[in-house]
Amino acid sequence: MQLDRVVPFGRSLDEYRTMFSLSHDDLDKEIVGVADGPASFNAEMQALGKRVISVDPLYAFRPAEIEQRFHAVVDGIMRQVKETPDDWVWTFHQSPDQLRERRVQALTRFLTDYERGTTDGRYVIGELPRLDFSDAQFELALCSHFLFLYSDHFSYAFHRAAFFEMLRIAEEVRVFPLLTLALKPSPYSHAASSEPRSRQLCP
Ligand SMILES: C[S@@+](CC[C@H](N)C(=O)[O-])C[C@H]1O[C@@H](n2cnc3c(N)ncnc32)[C@H](O)[C@@H]1O
Repeated sequence: MQLDRVVPFGRSLDEYRTMFSLSHDDLDKEIVGVADGPASFNAEMQALGKRVISVDPLYAFRPAEIEQRFHAVVDGIMRQVKETPDDWVWTFHQSPDQLRERRVQALTRFLTDYERGTTDGRYVIGELPRLDFSDAQFELALCSHFLFLYSDHFSYAFHRAAFFEMLRIAEEVRVFPLLTLALKPSPYSHAASSEPRSRQLCP
């Protein structure tokens, strides 16, 4: 997969549960979704009576602009997926068409919640490696499809600072995936596990 920049694709609560092995108890924790973008995780959690704060630079944009950014890239990405079907595991999503449909569903669900969630303080503009939250404000920080995935776009110094920032604001940090867009283990995951033990980043 080749991408010029980070794409505004979002995933569902079901996908977040699977990616991060979220247990029943985890869902009741104080959670911050870092780089949540147009994921429907926050909206679906809100509907279950649970509270998540999502932080992403994308939230500087209006709903129509976010929708337009999504539609500007979705066909090109799906074309690359269809050209490389053997690079992907088709167990969770059964086909590229279903994958596209689910990305549209997540975006639509997110957009229905976006304005109210912004007013509620659940969608917060911000970007790694500096986040405007207090030390240990959250029990759990989740970050999917940003760190490691875009290893060609962001340096190890950026990743390192981003991890320590998430560890500053949350007791526990979970990141998915550890692969790059080239479907190879990130060159940074080994370096992260070699950090001094007192502040070790465990991939
Ligand atoms: C591929 S999307 C993933 C969205 C969501 N985590 C999911 O998996 O459904 C990556 C997100 O990273 C966000 N992003 C880009 N640069 C960022 C930064 N410096 N800090 C935090 N988020 C960033 C983008 O705006 C985008 O929404």
